[in-house]
Amino acid sequence: MKPKVLHPKAFVFDAYGTLFDVHSVLRRNDAGLTGDLQALSQLWRRKQVELTWFRALMERYEDFWSITEMALRFALQQLAIPATAPQVERLMEAYLCPAAFDDVRLALEAMKPAPLAILSNGSPRMLDGAVRGNGLESYFTAVISVDRVKTYKPSPRVYALGPELLNLPADEILFVSSNAWDAAGAKAFGYRVCWCNRSGAEMEDWGFPPDFIVRRLDEIEARLAGRSVIG
Ligand code: LAC
Repeated sequence: MKPKVLHPKAFVFDAYGTLFDVHSVLRRNDAGLTGDLQALSQLWRRKQVELTWFRALMERYEDFWSITEMALRFALQQLAIPATAPQVERLMEAYLCPAAFDDVRLALEAMKPAPLAILSNGSPRMLDGAVRGNGLESYFTAVISVDRVKTYKPSPRVYALGPELLNLPADEILFVSSNAWDAAGAKAFGYRVCWCNRSGAEMEDWGFPPDFIVRRLDEIEARLAGRSVIG
């Protein structure tokens, strides 16, 4: 029997947390807030993700820009961090261009003979801002927003957009996410999956384990080369 080559035909990336560092927004702190900004950043992100799940289950889609602002207001209030309307606006503007992680460009360079795409909760305007703001637009053949199907990950309707737009079966695409729940959602859908465990977190058991785990995106090509064939 012919061995099945493991090298994927295309790569699909999650955006926030995987390519773009959401915490860079409050590290830069263009809005000049004072208070525990690390806690604010963590809570902002946690609430943002929770709201997407909530909205998806309720089938009451609001785009990621609105969700992100709702989550920011919630986090500010919970942590009693004062912020004026212009400061909130500054932070939201900064979210249009979170910094790319330092391994992104090198990783994309190594992978780019294959088609590369983004599949993200982000609204089209947010994704466009992040990709262009970091000068990464030449790498991607598709930047796919959940906005096309008006729901959020981990809905299979979202993951279905990858194979549909790349015209490839899911199991020939490597889906890469640093969000363990997103990696599990993609695996449940049928992708091959790499969990990029950037923070060195304990393995989270969501019932759909990734095919392999890396700490940085620029380790992926080497991992694929090292295990290029299975029987
Ligand atoms: C995204 C979120 C999950 O980019 O980070 O889809």
